[in-house]
Amino acid sequence: MCGIVGYVGSQSALDVVMAGLKRLEYRGYDSAGVAVLADGGLAGAKKAGKLVSLEKELVERPLPAGGTGIGHTRWATHGGPTDANAHPHLDNAGRVAVVHNGIIENFACLRAELAERGHELASETDTEVVAHLLAEAFSSCADLAEAMRLVCRRLEGAFTLAAVHADEPDVVVGARRNSPLVVGVGESEAFLASDIAAFIAHTRSAIELGQDQVVELRRDGVTVTGFDGSPGEARSYHVDWDVSAAEKGGYDYFMLKEIAEQPKAVADTLLGRIDPAGSLTLDEVRIPAGALREVEKVVVVACGTAFHAGLIAKYAIEHWTRIPCEVELASEFRYRDPILDARTLVIAISQSGETMDTLMALRHAREQGAKVLAVCNTNGSTIPRESDAVLYTHAGPEVAVASTKAFLTQLVACYLVALYLGQVRGTKWGDEIRAVVRDLADISGAVERVLETMEPVRELARSLADKNTVLFLGRHVGYPVALEGALKLKELAYMHAEGFAAGELKHGPIALIEEDVPVVVVVPSPRGRSVLHDKIVSNIQEIRARGARTIVIAEEGDETVVPYADHLIRIPATPTLLQPLVATVPLQVFACELATARGNEVDQPRNLAKSVTVE
Ligand code: F6R
Repeated sequence: MCGIVGYVGSQSALDVVMAGLKRLEYRGYDSAGVAVLADGGLAGAKKAGKLVSLEKELVERPLPAGGTGIGHTRWATHGGPTDANAHPHLDNAGRVAVVHNGIIENFACLRAELAERGHELASETDTEVVAHLLAEAFSSCADLAEAMRLVCRRLEGAFTLAAVHADEPDVVVGARRNSPLVVGVGESEAFLASDIAAFIAHTRSAIELGQDQVVELRRDGVTVTGFDGSPGEARSYHVDWDVSAAEKGGYDYFMLKEIAEQPKAVADTLLGRIDPAGSLTLDEVRIPAGALREVEKVVVVACGTAFHAGLIAKYAIEHWTRIPCEVELASEFRYRDPILDARTLVIAISQSGETMDTLMALRHAREQGAKVLAVCNTNGSTIPRESDAVLYTHAGPEVAVASTKAFLTQLVACYLVALYLGQVRGTKWGDEIRAVVRDLADISGAVERVLETMEPVRELARSLADKNTVLFLGRHVGYPVALEGALKLKELAYMHAEGFAAGELKHGPIALIEEDVPVVVVVPSPRGRSVLHDKIVSNIQEIRARGARTIVIAEEGDETVVPYADHLIRIPATPTLLQPLVATVPLQVFACELATARGNEVDQPRNLAKSVTVE
């Protein structure tokens, strides 16, 4: 949801900011803009469309060189994606430039107030009011950081702001409330961005800003204060991944790279958490064992793909721990008065750690006395910071908007949490659990094997490029996998795609089946829960009898499905509960290839943004 970059130092601010915006384009790509301070003034450019439109504009109309600048890539909220609504926004005198991520909820009354005082606002955005308010505040205090503090105290909503003023040529000021903002500290230079990826090529030394803080960046240092001017506490840390992790590494798309990275991401997320004797060490889960033993209910809150991980977590948690588990879309959770207390453990799953719906859900849960455990991929982000404990997934940076490796690692983390809960509560650890722990330790090899056999899946996807609908069916944990397969196809291929619990078929969805409609069926292992397996084999026969083209994902060695599969995708044998780790991978490859075949943007699907920091 909008990417922000700021720079002050001896390099060309324009070059640093543009390179940073390139890495942040996943956050929004409706428009982009930059402003630099040079020759005693402020120069800027902004363009609707992707960053490439801005790049062209800068070639046609170059900006003067300067060492201080800010930039923005936008996911539109207030006002359509036009040149005028693109950021930065300036005051009437053109001395202040501001970029913003989030929503300023009281912008309408601030705008009316400014209009009364004679300000002329040129855009439909909420952001522009900040430029005008900053100009007014600066004219009385002549200090941009102080002006920012004064203005922030008047703003309601969620926002990250970065601003420069022509009268303070070596300063960039940022502010943060409920929206991500990190600072990078280099040799005689400093950076500000929505995500470390924007400056990782320059420094791995970062500072995490807290809630309601203002930061002043100068070449020789960084000063953090609260909105009230009090000295601010901010955590410094070293970023443990490097620039290559945020680059495509020879792949055409980030998504392809991220799909390929899944075996490593899964292995990294398990690393050091299971000892050779098969017991779990999750020191990060800083909720006392006593409190975990008293948990009477688990509630998982998340959005989108992370929600699908939560649906799968429910099967594992209830089966392995016998604790009732509910899973809820974070956007629905707090609006329905859920029943929570100190014996409720809420698990908030989020790749970015910044999803506003999930953040609001966890805040609501904590207000009701529940303990919150975050499962998150982004070190230092808001969701883990506001939770009682965090279990980090180690997927590395996920840049493609459609989530892949983060999903698999969320599953791994959820399995670990479920097993850990079983361990601390003394759930009887039978042979099944011991076997699961062993299988989990080997699972990254199974994911690797799936990836090695994906060429027929790609071929199949290409052959379906002209279809309008694809349906997905599954039972048990295969049902959330079906939902995830459908979500990937919707967001990447822009096709009508729906996932159903196969048992629901006869209760309505079977009416959608017609000649040659592709239906992907995720078949559970024939071992163990064979009733489930037999039932889904019947479902395949039912849809095939009505003309569906069946695409069957089934375990190696499962011969019962062969007569009913128009296309058969093999996955390695795994225990049922772990099967999503291997069954999801062909669906990711399928969606990615179909999107490519249909000429769509794989990494930046239309209308989407990677991190949804507004409700
Ligand atoms: C889909 C996708 C989204 C995210 C959702 C939650 O491919 O990426 O559905 O899963 O927006 O995002 P996080 O996990 O960052 O909270």
